[in-house]
Amino acid sequence: PPHAVILAGGSGTRLWPLSRLQSPKQFLPLAGDETLIEATISRLAPLIPASQVLIVASAETGSGEGYHLLEPYDRLLEPVARNTAPAVAVSALKFTLAGLDPVLVVLPADHLVTGLEDFHRNLRTAIAAAESGKLALFGLPPVRPETGFGYIVAEGSGDVRRARSFHEKPDASVAKGLIAAGNCYWNSGMFAWRASVILAEVRRHLPSLVPVLDAIAADVRAGRGFQEAMAAHLADAPSISIDKGVLEKSDNVWLVPASFGWSDIGSWASVLEVAARDASGNAVQGSVIAIDCKDSLVRSESRLVAALGVENLVIVETADAVLVARADQSQRVREIVERVSAAS
Ligand code: GDD
Ligand code: MG
Repeated sequence: PPHAVILAGGSGTRLWPLSRLQSPKQFLPLAGDETLIEATISRLAPLIPASQVLIVASAETGSGEGYHLLEPYDRLLEPVARNTAPAVAVSALKFTLAGLDPVLVVLPADHLVTGLEDFHRNLRTAIAAAESGKLALFGLPPVRPETGFGYIVAEGSGDVRRARSFHEKPDASVAKGLIAAGNCYWNSGMFAWRASVILAEVRRHLPSLVPVLDAIAADVRAGRGFQEAMAAHLADAPSISIDKGVLEKSDNVWLVPASFGWSDIGSWASVLEVAARDASGNAVQGSVIAIDCKDSLVRSESRLVAALGVENLVIVETADAVLVARADQSQRVREIVERVSAAS
């Protein structure tokens, strides 16, 4: 039976000041009552039970406020962040060292999915492709020349198509060209593959990671626990994404066009986009008074926030910091985070 690997090690800096290192966005209820990671797991329920979920997260998160959310699940806690290729490879290694070779459905912890029936149908398709030895990934029909995503050009038609080329975070004009050329999809960052298949691809295309995997395996064979062995060697791994490190180079990547609704809650503008809004387009969250405001997100965590006559703003109040930004500039919040960390 398939297992899920939930990638939850990202820091979510563009959602400052709500998202912090110890409590990044995947551990926050940014769309609805559930946190994003809880929603990611519960939407799998009919296909993958909670007992078959492995979470790969940062040890920092695991000791912070997010800890209780991880407790019910099998988990790997990384002492250092090395991006997704090492996280994906060690998750697969954990299974193969135990003598298992399940299909692993790899999902980011911080995406919003709507249209559950379509999601489950697409998931079954990807799982079947993975069972037959393919690296399967979900592609989303692009709806704008977004520069924050990877693009994949596919070949052919049908439910499972060969992925021909990858274009990670192109600039807007390249993105426009790709979309115009057709059979082009956003990389969802959601994958399915057998543990042994992704490990073989890592060995072929990302040799710098292999000594780390071998060292972990040797320690485990010598009787060390997997978590302990992984924690001892992860710092030696290259920091690279699974997309760049492996998928772009492999000729065994297959795209499943997604028919479900999807949003990467990457910035405050995208939180505003998916939030419940009033007739003037405002999303007000918490203790807020908004008068004559338009298309604004106003969120209060600890104090009363009052906004008057503003448009297209994001206002996020927390106990120790307040963000006021133009919604269309909210991708740049990471510049604030850089300044904050430089100052502390
Ligand atoms: N365990 C672990 N360790 N997880 C990590 C790490 C890490 O070091 N780094 C990132 N993650 C998790 C994040 O929490 C997120 O759930 C997922 O892996 C993807 O990482 P991002 O940092 O959010 O990637 P991205 O948004 O820049 O780009 C990827 O996702 C896009 C779609 O959202 C790429 O796959 C793009 O091609 C894709 O379009
Ligand atoms: Mg992301």
